[in-house]
Amino acid sequence: MDFLELEAVTKEFPNPSGPPARVMDRVSFSVREGEFMAVLGPSGCGKSTLLQMAAGLLPPTSGEVRIAGRRIDGPPPEAVYVFQQYTRSLLPWRNVRDNVAFAVEHRIGRRRARDAAETQLGQVGLSGFGDHFPWQLSGGMQQRVAIARALAAEPAMLLMDEPFSAVDALTRLDLQALILDIWTRRRLTVLLVTHDVEEAITLADRIAMLTHRPATLAGMVEVGLPRPRDPITTRELPRFLELRHQLLGQLLHRHAV
Ligand SMILES: Nc1ncnc2c1ncn2[C@@H]1O[C@H](COP(=O)(O)OP(=O)(O)OP(=O)(O)O)[C@@H](O)[C@H]1O
Ligand SMILES: [Mg+2]
Repeated sequence: MDFLELEAVTKEFPNPSGPPARVMDRVSFSVREGEFMAVLGPSGCGKSTLLQMAAGLLPPTSGEVRIAGRRIDGPPPEAVYVFQQYTRSLLPWRNVRDNVAFAVEHRIGRRRARDAAETQLGQVGLSGFGDHFPWQLSGGMQQRVAIARALAAEPAMLLMDEPFSAVDALTRLDLQALILDIWTRRRLTVLLVTHDVEEAITLADRIAMLTHRPATLAGMVEVGLPRPRDPITTRELPRFLELRHQLLGQLLHRHAV
C-alpha cells in the first residue's frame, strides 16, 4: 500500500524582482508502507523543499501530498522530521532525557514521558546518558538523541533531511548502521534526503533521483541489494559498485538512469 504520495507537486517561491521562482516541477512518486526511500539530487535542487512539503510544513503551489490516502494541509500526526542540524534541534537547557521526553510529555505526562525516554535512549545506544546535557555530548551522540526523540513519538513515518551530514565520516557510518537497525526492527516508512550516493544505496529500497533546479523526477532506481545490510560489507558488493557508477554518472550528467 502507498503510504506517502506526491502527485504533480510543483513549488514556486515569490520573487520580489520578477516572476515567481519555480524550484520544483510536477514531481510525482509514492513511498510504500514500510519502504525506505532515498531522495538524491544535486545541491540546491529542492530536496529540503520536497521534504518540507512531505512533512506538511510547506504547501505545494500546485499538486498534492497524501499520507495514508489523506491530502495533508499541515503536519500529519503520522510523521516526524529529523533535521540536519542537531545543534539547533535539541534544547540546550534540558538534559538528554528531558529532550527526548519533550516529544511526548504533552500527551502522556512528564513522569511516563521520562520512562519512555529512557527506553528510547537505550535503543539508540545512549543508556546512562539521560542526565547529560546536549553540549556535553559529541555531534554523533547528539544526533542519536534527536533520533531517539523522533522515535519517542512512535511515528509511522520518519522524514530525514541529510541527518548525518554534520558528523565525521566514521560517525556517519555508525549512524547509518543505527538507522538500518531501527528501520529493520520497527518497519517504519522512511523518506531520507541526501546528496551522498553511497548513503542512498546503502540504506534505501528505492532512490528517487532529482534533476537540477527546477527539480523534476529524473528516475526511480530499485536498489535490490540483499538485507540485512551493513555499511561496510554492503559497499563491497558488485551491485553496489554498479549502482554507484550509474548514479554518480547521472549526477555528473554523463548518462541517464
Ligand atoms: N523560502 C524560500 N524562498 C525563496 N527561495 C527558496 C526558499 N527556500 C528555498 N528556496 C530556493 O529553492 C531552491 C531549493 O532549495 P532547497 O533548500 O530545497 O535545496 P536542497 O536541494 O535542499 O539544497 P542543499 O543540497 O544545499 O541542501 C534553492 O535555489 C533555494 O534558494
Ligand atoms: Mg537541503
